[in-house]
Parts: sequence; C-alpha cells; structure tokens
Amino acid sequence: MKGLILSGGKGTRLYPLTYTRAKQLIPVANKPILFRVIEAIRDAGIRDIGIVTGDTGPEICETVRDGSQFGVDVTYIPQAAPLGLAHAVKISRDFLGDDRFVMFLGDNVIQGGISPLIADFANHEDWNSQIVLTQIEQPEQYGVAELNGEGRIVRLVEKPKVPPSNLALVGIYMFDHHIFEATDEIKPSFRNELEITDAIQWLVDHDYRVYPHIHQGWWIDTGRPDDMLTANSLVLEELTPEILGSIDAQSEVDSRVTVEAGAEIVNSVVRGPAIIGRDSRIINSYVGPFTSIYHHVVIENSEIERSIVLEHSAIRDIPTRLQDSLIGRHAEVNKSTIRPQALKLHLGDHSRLNLL
Ligand code: TTP
Repeated sequence: MKGLILSGGKGTRLYPLTYTRAKQLIPVANKPILFRVIEAIRDAGIRDIGIVTGDTGPEICETVRDGSQFGVDVTYIPQAAPLGLAHAVKISRDFLGDDRFVMFLGDNVIQGGISPLIADFANHEDWNSQIVLTQIEQPEQYGVAELNGEGRIVRLVEKPKVPPSNLALVGIYMFDHHIFEATDEIKPSFRNELEITDAIQWLVDHDYRVYPHIHQGWWIDTGRPDDMLTANSLVLEELTPEILGSIDAQSEVDSRVTVEAGAEIVNSVVRGPAIIGRDSRIINSYVGPFTSIYHHVVIENSEIERSIVLEHSAIRDIPTRLQDSLIGRHAEVNKSTIRPQALKLHLGDHSRLNLL
C-alpha cells in the first residue's frame, strides 16, 4: 500500500498565519501536523508516501526533504492550483500506479493513529474503498454518510440540512485504482473543485464496494484557529512529560509539563498539560494548561493560557492574561513604556484582536 498526503490548499481560514507558512507545518504540541500525519502512516507500515503540494511546496520540501528522517520515502506531487481533493488524487496517478492507497488530509489530527483502519482495508481485498466516519453531534457542518442494512455506503451528502445519519466523513480515505475512473468522470462542483465526495458517490453508483470504518476516538480538522487550539489541547493531554531544560528553585512546574532541551523556567508557574520548546525562556510568568510554546520564545512578566506561540516570538509585561491565542513567528507583544499610553498595533492582514 502507498500513502498520499494532501498538503496543497490555500488555508484562508487561518490567515494571517498561513500567508507565510504552510498550514500543515503549524505545530500542535510543538510538532508540525504534517509530521504527525507522516508518522501515523509510517506506523501503519507504509513506507512509500506521496505529498501533494501547492504554493507552499518549497517550504514543505525543505522541511520534510526525502522523508528519511521519518524512515519513509517521499515523492512530491505539485498541484498547480487547489482544484479539489479528487483533483489531487487524479494528478497522483503516476505515483500511485495500481497500488491500493490511503489518502490523508495533511491538516487532520486523529487519536490513536491509523493502523487499525489500514489493517481493516488490507483484510478485505474485495473492498474498492473504505472511508472513515465518526459520530458527530452536528453533522450538518460535514459530509455525512448513509449506510444500508449490510453496513455498506449508499450515499454521501455534503453539509445536509437534514442529515441521513450522525456519521461524518473524517479526512482519511482508502482506495484501489478504480478511483481513477471516478476522478476522470466527475465534473467540478459549484466551487470549481473536483470533490472527493462526488468521486466516492460515483464508485457507489457504479456498484463498487465502499465500506465505512467507524473511528471511535477524537479527530480534528484544523481548518480554523479554534480547531488548531482544540487539537493542541487534545494532543497535549496525551503527551508523555519530559524535563530536559532547567527549572529554578523559585518556579513551580506541574507534573504534566514538558520542558525541552535548553529551555529555562525562572521564577514562574507552569501548569500542565503544556510544553515549553527548545531554548525558550519563561521569566516571572504564568503559563497555564493547554499551552504550547515553540522554540526560541520569551515570555516575561506575563500570563498565558490555552494558546500556541510560534518560534522566535516574545511576550513581555502584558497586564492581562492572554488566552485562546495563536501567535505567529517573530511576533512581539509588549507593554509600551513611552507616552502616550495607548494600544500600538502592527497587525498583518486578516489579523484578529479581541480587546477586553
Ligand atoms: P481544505 O481545508 O478543504 O482547504 P484549504 O487548505 O485550502 O483551506 P481553506 O478552506 O481555509 O482555504 O483542505 C484540506 C486539506 O487538503 C489541506 O491539507 C489542503 C489539502 N488540499 C490540497 O492538497 N489540494 C486541494 O485542491 C485542496 C482543496 C486541499
């Protein structure tokens, strides 16, 4: 079996962070989501992985390289424009050949990995496709599946007003080569994309065998900032804590905290689950639960909770606690010491600032 990771797209819902960085390289619990996806595929026993890339292709290639750091072989498949998930499959045909494959959206995070799903598909050679579903409270927001009495998929509906079930599609799909018949036949949708749900529906309508795998744990599509924070919280909950950096005698650090090498905690309180990245410094501050501080960050005389701070940023002398925040690279948040005392902002396009 092969793996296909989709890392193109525009990431508009995560602007401004995704103006300068691939969405799939934003870290949750200090590890880029794409690395987590590659590791999940590798841990399911797959070595041959294709990565579909868009405008952020160079950054992804530079970071992942040939995949040997993960123990896999990576082939890059450039997609000229984000013309849909089924379009990404279509352009990957040379790489995939006649092999069965798993397609994984590069911005999705799933609890427990994908080994059980891969084993399920591998054990049913007569299945042409397997899609992953999860029970969801408000399926109206998702692609929803309708199953027949034998548990086979009969219909997929995108964002239905009246959902036929509470089973939503998770961004992980398994196919054999018959999917290329579907991607050749379907037409672009109203948003001018070749939709994967249309391709799967085409398989169903042409009597190919499409079965579901019901995923029991959590799954997060990190499309929006709050999804990113939720994924971060869920992954932090499962992290095995490790202290490699230094903590001074005046600090209080919870048992569920990871402090990476070279990080320093000085006269501060850190409550887990949380992670403090390599060479970051926390001075006279409070870092609360569900926070990931990436590498080379400084937090001084400030309080922060349930947030992600990316590399080389600095937060100093903030009079109110920061919460539910996503802070990009090389960002600075501080209190002005010069008059007039006022908010002075240098915010990028599409930034969001919620004042008290
Ligand atoms: P989406 O989240 O649906 O699209 P997007 O990344 O462009 O985000 P936004 O809606 O905020 O602009 O994409 C899901 C995943 O699939 C993501 O990792 C990007 C990838 N993708 C491709 O590789 N090619 C495509 O044509 C599309 C639409 C998405």
